[in-house]
Amino acid sequence: MSPSNIHKDFPILFSEQQIAERTAEIGRQIDADYAGKSVVLVGVLKGAAIFLADLARSITVDCTFDFVAVSSYGKGQKTSGAVKLIKDLDLPIEGKNIIVVEDILDTGLTLCFLRNLFEQHRPRSLRVAALLDKPSRRLEKIEADYVGFKIPNHFVVGYGMDYAERFRNVRDIRLMPPDYPEMH
Ligand code: IMP
Repeated sequence: MSPSNIHKDFPILFSEQQIAERTAEIGRQIDADYAGKSVVLVGVLKGAAIFLADLARSITVDCTFDFVAVSSYGKGQKTSGAVKLIKDLDLPIEGKNIIVVEDILDTGLTLCFLRNLFEQHRPRSLRVAALLDKPSRRLEKIEADYVGFKIPNHFVVGYGMDYAERFRNVRDIRLMPPDYPEMH
């Protein structure tokens, strides 16, 4: 199999349709929670870009976007533990309703770091939307307000999520085989 479609061998965890249906449900929940208000969706690059694009189009309340980037896992699957801000917010968030949009809530280190950082800017409210949640991996005490799917401790790719920057454009969410040749 050529390198471009090797992912077809990875088992599907959530199909495009399942993701779309769950995203629409979260969108309806956000619409209900923020009726008559404005929200700022803050996407965490790069993994959350695709989820943010779909979530934003599932909500009808007045909304703007911003993006931050933080240091990530690097090439492999192991987290270094240290989180560093690589790209800050473009616009002030003071007095605004913020929803931080993440692809996966894993150890919680990233979101804890971002929550502390954003709270210093005194937003009106701060909530978290995470497409996936791996509760068994949590090191920090943090939960998302909106969760797409809770999953066990598996490494996944697709729908924005990568392994060594690859597979972000895969349309469904797939399980990365532990014996993947470039994995170690
Ligand atoms: P945390 O700081 O450990 O919660 O890590 C969150 C980030 O780790 C996510 O935003 C992803 O970028 C990355 N990550 C965690 N698990 C996976 C995975 O299974 N596949 C791809 N990226 C992951």
